[in-house]
Amino acid sequence: MSDEPLLRVDALSAGYGRSQVLFNVSMTAPRTGAVAILGRNGAGKTTLLNTLVGEITPMGGSIEFDGQECASEGTEHRVRRGLGYVPQEQAIFGSLTVRENLALGTMARPETVSLDMALDFFPKLGERLGQQAGTLSGGERKMLAISRAILGRPRLLMLDEPTEGVWVGVIEEIAERLQRLAREISLVIVEQHVELALRVADHAYVMDRGTVALDGPSAEIRDDPDLVRYLAP
Ligand SMILES: Nc1ncnc2c1ncn2[C@@H]1O[C@H](COP(=O)(O)OP(=O)(O)O)[C@@H](O)[C@H]1O
Ligand SMILES: [Mg+2]
Repeated sequence: MSDEPLLRVDALSAGYGRSQVLFNVSMTAPRTGAVAILGRNGAGKTTLLNTLVGEITPMGGSIEFDGQECASEGTEHRVRRGLGYVPQEQAIFGSLTVRENLALGTMARPETVSLDMALDFFPKLGERLGQQAGTLSGGERKMLAISRAILGRPRLLMLDEPTEGVWVGVIEEIAERLQRLAREISLVIVEQHVELALRVADHAYVMDRGTVALDGPSAEIRDDPDLVRYLAP
C-alpha cells in the first residue's frame, strides 16, 4: 500500500451558479485515519463535501482520488471508486424500516456485505430492525445513516456533522465508533463539536469564508490561538 494520500484536493474552487463559495481549497486525506474539517456556520464545509462527492461541479482545481483525477467524473463513478458520504440532512428513509434502510446500503455490493457488519458496529440498531426509521431518535438516525454508508464498503467516508442533533450521552458512542473505523479506512469529518473532532482526527483543517485558514496536526490546532477566532460566530 502506498503512502500517497487517498484523497488529494488542490486549489479547489466551487459555488452555486455564479456565487463562489470555495476559494483555492487544498487538503489531503490519508488511506487510514481521520481528518477534521472545522469552521463556523456558512464557512463552506458542506459545499466542500458536496463538491468532493460530485454534486457540485468545481469552477477550478483538482480532486484526485487514489491518484486519479475525478473532478469531472460523476458521483456514481466516485462512489464506485470507494467514496462514501453521510450528508448533513436526513440521510435515511423515514417511512422505511431500519432493516430496509440497511438493505439499501448493501445494494451496491450485495455479494460482499451483510447487515451483520452494520449491526456489529451499532448493536442498538439490531433491536430496531422492524421499526420505521422515522420514529428513531436523533442518535439512532445518525447511527443508521453511518451504518448504511459503511455497508457500501467505502475506502473514504465523508461525514457531515455526524453528532448534530444527537443526545450528549450517545455522542461518545458515535465518536468511539468513528475512531474504530478510522483504523481501517479514511474519514473526513465535518464537526461542530471541536473537542470531539480533534480527538478523533489526526489532522484538522479550519475553514473561514470558503478558504482553509488554518491546518495542522490536531494537537497543534487545539492549542492554536487563532482557532477560537475562526470558530466564533
Ligand atoms: N444551495 C445553495 N445555493 C446558494 N448558496 C448556498 C447554497 N448552499 C449553501 N450556500 C451558501 O454557501 C455558503 C457556505 O455554506 P455551507 O457550505 O452550507 O457552509 P457550512 O456547511 O460550513 O455551514 C453560505 O454562504 C451559504 O449561504
Ligand atoms: Mg454544513
